[in-house]
Amino acid sequence: MEKQFNPFSLKNKVIVISGAASGIGRQCAITCSKMGAKLILLDLNEIGLSETLQLLENSDEHFSAVINLTDYNKVGNIISSAVEKIGRISGLLNCAGISTTLPLKNAKQEILDNFFKINVYTAYFLTQTVCKMGNFSKEGGSIVFFSSAAGQYGESGKSIYGMTKGALFSCAKSLACELSRKNIRVNSISPGVIVTPINQNLPHIADPELRKQTEALHLLGLGNPEDIANACVYLLSDASRWVTGSNLVVDGGYTTR
Ligand SMILES: NC(=O)c1ccc[n+]([C@@H]2O[C@H](COP(=O)([O-])OP(=O)(O)OC[C@H]3O[C@@H](n4cnc5c(N)ncnc54)[C@H](O)[C@@H]3O)[C@@H](O)[C@H]2O)c1
Repeated sequence: MEKQFNPFSLKNKVIVISGAASGIGRQCAITCSKMGAKLILLDLNEIGLSETLQLLENSDEHFSAVINLTDYNKVGNIISSAVEKIGRISGLLNCAGISTTLPLKNAKQEILDNFFKINVYTAYFLTQTVCKMGNFSKEGGSIVFFSSAAGQYGESGKSIYGMTKGALFSCAKSLACELSRKNIRVNSISPGVIVTPINQNLPHIADPELRKQTEALHLLGLGNPEDIANACVYLLSDASRWVTGSNLVVDGGYTTR
C-alpha cells in the first residue's frame, strides 16, 4: 500500500520541549507525539510533567526530566543522557516562561532579573546546549522561541513581560543567520491570549470586565493551546523547510488592530 503523504509528519524526529508540564507546552507535547515525534520534556513541575507523560502516545518512548532551567549548568548532562537514550535532536520548542502585569512604579531590579533569567536566559542557554556537537541531528532541524503579541505591541502593565518577549523575537532572527550553515532553522511564534495557568490569575483574565475587553481585542476570540501546538508542528516539520528568521503570529487577529 502507498504511504500516506503528510508534509507535517514528525516521525523519526526527536523534539525537546521546555515548559511541558502545563498549558501550551503540554499541548505541544501531546500534539507532537500524535504526529510521531519522540520527546524530551523539561519542566520544574514534577507532578505536571508526569501528568503530561501519561497523556502521550507511546509514553515509554519519551524522556522527561524535572529541572529548574535557570540551573544552566545542569542542562548539559540531562540533554546528553536524553540523546543517548532516544537519539539526536531535530527540534526544540523553548516554551517555559512566566508572566506578570506590573506597572512601572512597582518594578524592582530583582523582578527584572528574575524575568530575564527565566524567560530569556533559559531559552538561550537551552538552545546553546541543544546545538552542541553531538546533540543536534547532522541533518539539521528547527528551533522555536516563544515570543508573544506583547513582545511587539504595547499593553499597560506589560513592560517587563513584553521586554523579555521582544528579546526572544530578535534572538530568533540573529540565530537564524548564525545557524543556517548547520541547516538549523530558527523562528519565533507570537501567540495572542490563551487562558492557561500563566495568566488565569492576572487582571486581564481574572476580572470579568477586563476579560471581556481582552476577548473583544481578539477578532476571533481567545485561542486554545491547540492553536499554538498546530503552528509549532508546522515550524518543526519539513513543511516549513524554507522558513527561517520568521515570526509566526497566531493571535486570533489581535495585532491587526
Ligand atoms: N498563554 C498565553 O496567553 C501566552 C501568550 C503568548 C505567549 N505565551 C508564552 O507561551 C509559553 C507557555 O505559556 P503557557 O501559557 O503554557 O504557561 P504555563 O504557565 O501554563 O506553562 C509554563 C511552564 O513553564 C514552566 N517553567 C517556568 N519557569 C521554569 C523554569 N525556570 N524551569 C523549568 N520550567 C519552568 C512552568 O512550570 C510551566 O509548566 C510562555 O513562554 C509564555 O510566555 C503564552
